[in-house]
Amino acid sequence: MKNEMLDATVSRRKLIMGIGGISAAGFFATAGVPRSARADARYAFAAKPGTAQLISEDLPATRIWGYGGVTPGPEIRLRQGDQLQVEFENALPEETTVHWHGVRLPNPMDGVPGLTQAPIQPGDKFLYEFQVPDAGTYWYHPHVNGSTQLGRGLYGPLIIEEPSPPVVDRDVVWMLDDWRLEDNFQIAENFGNLMDMSHGGRIGNWASINGLPYETFPVQAGERIRLRIINAANARIFGLEFQDHAPLVIAYDGQPTKPHPLPGGRLVLGPAMRADLILDMTGSPDQKFAVRDTYYEANEFELLDLVYGPGAVRDRLLETGVALAANPLPEPDMAAATRHQIVIAGGMMGDMGGGDLDGQRFDMQQLAEFGKAWAMNGVVAGNEAPTPLLSARLGESVAITLKNDTAWEHPMHLHGHSFRVVSRDGDTSGLGEWRDTILVDPFETVEIAFVADNPGDWLFHCHTQEHAAGGLLTVVRVA
Ligand code: C2O
Ligand code: CU
Repeated sequence: MKNEMLDATVSRRKLIMGIGGISAAGFFATAGVPRSARADARYAFAAKPGTAQLISEDLPATRIWGYGGVTPGPEIRLRQGDQLQVEFENALPEETTVHWHGVRLPNPMDGVPGLTQAPIQPGDKFLYEFQVPDAGTYWYHPHVNGSTQLGRGLYGPLIIEEPSPPVVDRDVVWMLDDWRLEDNFQIAENFGNLMDMSHGGRIGNWASINGLPYETFPVQAGERIRLRIINAANARIFGLEFQDHAPLVIAYDGQPTKPHPLPGGRLVLGPAMRADLILDMTGSPDQKFAVRDTYYEANEFELLDLVYGPGAVRDRLLETGVALAANPLPEPDMAAATRHQIVIAGGMMGDMGGGDLDGQRFDMQQLAEFGKAWAMNGVVAGNEAPTPLLSARLGESVAITLKNDTAWEHPMHLHGHSFRVVSRDGDTSGLGEWRDTILVDPFETVEIAFVADNPGDWLFHCHTQEHAAGGLLTVVRVA
């Protein structure tokens, strides 16, 4: 097979808009160093300002906020069933919390200000401590002022290892983000503006993997890589295509799924979503293959190249099994499930007439003045913790039909639980996977189901940070 370079006009350079004079110096990033879980699962770090070389080593650093002052923050890695302890300190100039996205943990550890804990003030500490019931790929991020705090780079990977994971040569995390940078390589300060809020959120102009600009990812012929991909962006949806390679999906949002090829040949991950892939390096020494993002038609770009080294790890690919053992999730009883419908409305090009904010009815114009643009069943989340849109008895099976009545995608995330995806626009074929975040397309209807087995008040919201701030957020009460 000969090198097939993609059309050079479709390059990652295209993602840059309004940043002049950057030399495209790609470099090899250190990735995929063998890791293993720490025995004690104890961590201590602060959220604080720092810098990152987002674009190249030769250009000025970008001022960021990060856990430990770096982005992504420290990789937390432990074993299924372990107790995680994080001594967290807020060294930011504003209040914050830490949310452990996707982990089915006790409510007081969920990191939602005004709902599960008081916001952590600058200079204060908070001890997060909980057991991790499920193996898989998770992440952590703040739940205060999300557009700004995530937009400045506050997040980190949380990896929970299976007792007996599939045999691979490398276990690699790609934490994807996209940044909105100015000409001076600093982060644009226009967080939470009405334009982003009422459209597709804060989409950036520079993509990074693990906080690095790397354009090449070194691989070896014959290698088997477990690739854990996490979308940590505020709003960008990634749609990755692997040239001439056929990765298998083995988990979504940490939860195992029957190994299968990428649906439609592309891995689509909305904000907060994750996938675990098994990537067999089927190319030959010294070859090079592109990983491209084709999600936004007008703005395709090359994320990086898989670059084969001169040797080979083995001459026959591994043939050992890659399926993961299921996590201990309770199975919803669809026949007995209590059914709810949630209609998502609002945004530009929608026809929402208005909504209820803090118990008062407003039209769209008035809502915009309060910085709001979205509603669930006519209710716009205010700045206080919202009253629950639905309540469930402990142990009850719950089925929710989510109807997206807007012209925009919404990655809807439920805290404290994983749910099964039952149907999309009435179609049940090939579904049934567990997730904690589901990307609902414009005017699409999706049905999800879960057992409400975790007591507490849990957020259910759009993970596009600007949409959540704009009112697309509610509470599911389990009691
Ligand atoms: Cu990733 Cu409500 O959070
Ligand atoms: Cu949304």
